[in-house]
Formats: sequence, C-alpha cells, structure tokens
Amino acid sequence: MRILMIASEAVPFAKTGGLADVVSALSYALQKLGHDVRIVMPRYYKIDRKDLIPIPGAMGVTIGNQEYWTEVFESALPNSDIPVYFIDHEESFGRDGLYGSMFEPDFSDNPKRFSILCHAAFQVCRKQQWIPDVMHAHDWQTALVSVLLKFHEQYPEFAQTASVFTIHNIGYQGIYGKSHYPDTGLDWKYFYNAGFEDWDRINFLKAGLLSADQLTTVSPTYAEEIQRIEYGFRMHGILCYRKDDLTGILNGVDTNVWNPKTDKHIPENYTSRSLRKKAENKKALQQKMGLPQNENIPVFSMISRLTDQKGIAELFGPAYGAAFKLCTNLQLQMIVLGSGDRWCEDELRALSQRLPNLRVYIGYDENLSHLIEAGSDFFLMPSRYEPCGLNQMYSLLYGTLPIVRNTGGLADTVQNYDEQTGNGTGFVLDLLSPDSIYNTVDWAVNTWFKRHEHIEKMQKKAMSQDFTWDTSAKKYLEVYQKAVTAKQHR
Ligand code: ADP
Ligand code: GLC
Repeated sequence: MRILMIASEAVPFAKTGGLADVVSALSYALQKLGHDVRIVMPRYYKIDRKDLIPIPGAMGVTIGNQEYWTEVFESALPNSDIPVYFIDHEESFGRDGLYGSMFEPDFSDNPKRFSILCHAAFQVCRKQQWIPDVMHAHDWQTALVSVLLKFHEQYPEFAQTASVFTIHNIGYQGIYGKSHYPDTGLDWKYFYNAGFEDWDRINFLKAGLLSADQLTTVSPTYAEEIQRIEYGFRMHGILCYRKDDLTGILNGVDTNVWNPKTDKHIPENYTSRSLRKKAENKKALQQKMGLPQNENIPVFSMISRLTDQKGIAELFGPAYGAAFKLCTNLQLQMIVLGSGDRWCEDELRALSQRLPNLRVYIGYDENLSHLIEAGSDFFLMPSRYEPCGLNQMYSLLYGTLPIVRNTGGLADTVQNYDEQTGNGTGFVLDLLSPDSIYNTVDWAVNTWFKRHEHIEKMQKKAMSQDFTWDTSAKKYLEVYQKAVTAKQHR
C-alpha cells in the first residue's frame, strides 16, 4: 500500500511532543511490513537545508486565487530509505518556533501556514508522480487534507485516495476568525458543508472529523472518552455520530531508542534480570541533579510539557499544589524536567530554592530524559487527560513505576498495585486533586519502605510489557483498508 503521512512534526527533524515520535515510528513499522510510506512536513527554519537534497524546480501551490511558490527538499528517516519531503516556504516556516513564539504563542497566520502544507502535500505527490492509496493526516494542522480529498474537484488524480485522520490531542482544534477561511482555498459553500463552521468561527479539526474516511485516536480508552462531554472539548457529538469509523490504537515505543539494555545515553545498561545496575544510574542522576547520593531514598520524577493537561496545577499550583507538602512531609527526592506555561516554570524555580530535595531543569533535554527514566524509582504523570502518553510506557520499560491518573492511554497501559498479591505495574489515582496526588505518592513511598519485595515484583512485570509498534502498525493497516473500501463505495 502507498501511504503518505502529512504532519507538522516528525523526529528527528522537528518535535514539540509525542506526535513527532509517533509519525516516524509508525512509518518505520509500516515500511517493515512491506509498505511504501512517505512523509510530508514543513522545512522549519532550524532544519538545515545543507542536510537535505533539493528537488529541482520551484513548486507552485495554488490556494484560491493566490499562488505560493515553494521549494521541496528531500531526506530520509535515519537508517532507512523512507522519503521525507520538506516544504520550504520562507514566509511561512522561516522562523523560530513550530506553532508560535514567546511573543505570539499561536502565530496568527497558522491557518495559512498549515493550509500551504496541506495543499503542497498534493503537489509533491504530483511532482513525484506518486499517488498514495491513503493520506494519513495528524492533528488539526493537517486536518484540511481530509477535506480537500473529500471535495476533490481540485485534485482529480486523487479520486481513489482515501483519508485517515488521527486525533493526538482533541484539546487543540485550530479555531480562528472566519476571515481566515479563504486561506483554505475552498469555496464558501464548504464553510458549512464541510463542517468548518463553529459558532461563526472556523474550526479545522471539526472539518477533519467530519470529512475523513476513517478516524483514529491513540488509545482505546481515549476513543471512548472523547465521545463524552467531559473529554470531548465540544466534539463529543460529532464523535458519537462517527463512532463506527473511530478506532483507538495504542501508540508503541521505538525500542531502538528506548531500551534500558542498549540505551546509549545512560551510564549503565540493565535488564529486569540485572536490576541492581539500575542503582548506578540512580547515583549518576542524583549526582547530576545535585541531590545527595542515597540509594535508599525513592526518587520521583516528571518529564513533561508544563501545561494544564498534565495535572501541573494540582502538582505545582502556588500554595495549594501537592509538591510542597510531598517534599516536606515525605522521605523522597523529586526531579522535574520540563518547559511550558510561564507561571509553572517560575513556580518550579521558586519551589526548588526552598526545597532541598526538589531539583528542577527548565528546558528540553533529550539526554537528561533518558537518565531520568533510568535513574528514577517512580514517574509522575497525573494527567487531567492523556490521549496516549509515551513517558509512562518508557517508564514501565525502564522499571520506573508510573504514578498515573486513570484516564486515556494511562488507563490502558498501567495496572494498579494490588497490596494483597503485589501484582500491578504502577499506582493509579482516579480523582485529580492535590490530596489525591499526595495520598497516592504517600502510598508508593510506604510500599517502597515497607513492602520492597512488591516493588521489585512490579518492576519486573513492568519491564516485560510489550509496546512494540508491530501490533499497532497492523491495526493501522486494517483502518487504512477500511478507509479505502469506504472511499470506493462513496
Ligand atoms: P505529549 O505529546 O502530550 O507532550 P507524550 O508523553 O506523548 O506527551 O510525549 C512527550 C514526549 O516529549 C516524550 O518523548 C518525552 O520524553 C518528551 N519530552 C517532553 N518534555 C521534554 C523535555 N523537557 N525534555 C526532553 N524530552 C521531553
Ligand atoms: C499528544 C498527546 C499524547 C500522545 C501524543 C502522541 O501530544 O498529548 O498523549 O502520546 O500526542 O500520540
């Protein structure tokens, strides 16, 4: 099958979150199963042209009565021959930041920038004389692809091409004033017909949800949750209506990158049979973060975008968040690696001044994230909602027991501790509140000191979980097939 991924990020070229990991890892897995997969993404300013091969000839992208001249560059995913096409349009992508900057958190021309990406995806295929069977778009930035395919008079060669749209996070929908509608290049009749209209504004995600042949999201539980008012961010009605076309497929883990046995970023490799060696990583981590090197104190860590979705208010909210009480009342060390909301970054810096057992690194650091996974005992992820979540899976594979809220992909991957049997792979809380976080961490600390044999049993079980992409890629192929069939019968 010929599959084109259209995405706003993909590792190793550009990443702000798990989406980037998923786009590339899924592509590798599909290729391994024998399929012809290619990726289209923007050439952001920080992706150096010198590392890419130019495809000769400028490429005109016509949107309504505008024409944008772009260049296309090509590269491949590392250690593979999976083509990645980069759309180079200086005015749109020649700036720092993927979606916004410190001064403008959401670029006001995002509708135009990503509309150019979506239209360009079709042009690249024409240019390469390669028409995909399936166009697989991810999140609101590329939702327009499904709409263009459904109302395809502009792109007749794609009459047989089916569309699949994956929701990685329904909290981001791409909602803008309707003066931006001409950026889509579609006739005004589609403002209503294609479902862009949202309280007289334009909603890219909504149009994608209504237009795609098949929809997926990144865990089975999240697929159920987003059909409910509490989690659907107003899209629950549409998702109930399309429930037969919506599949929850759990993300996998790229075990070439995240594997404690082979991880090149950590001082001591280990497996579930050599867990003693994990202690060496703990020492190295404590030393790096300036914490006392004490094997007998449990280390709790968090690596995260610092946004409301991740439960940061309940953890670090000034005066009421759980962190202060956790670090003062309990015998533990805490490490936070993250960046995001300014208030939270500031609060974390202030807290770490007052609490000698809390160490904070504000920023993005791939290397450190591996050491944290290997060197910690517990991983904090009390998300308000979590479509899938990757870090709890990395944590499980590294024998670092996750403390998670019972939602989305967290519910699908972490099994709560059973005090009677010592079964489980982590500690699960239901209600998101400072007290409930405190009580669950307290429970984990107590178990660590009083029932350490249970901790070891859970670590072994956690490390034996199978999160390889193979299984998930096969499920995507089933969805692609359904999409192709649906398109043929339309
Ligand atoms: P989300 O996509 O919602 O941010 P995921 O758990 O799916 O959540 O993916 C987050 C990804 O980003 C993981 O690969 C995680 O390791 C990485 N990450 C997040 N923040 C940082 C950071 N500050 N430093 C290094 N890696 C980070
Ligand atoms: C989103 C979600 C996260 C998911 C990731 C990759 O950013 O917040 O839960 O793992 O996408 O699908």
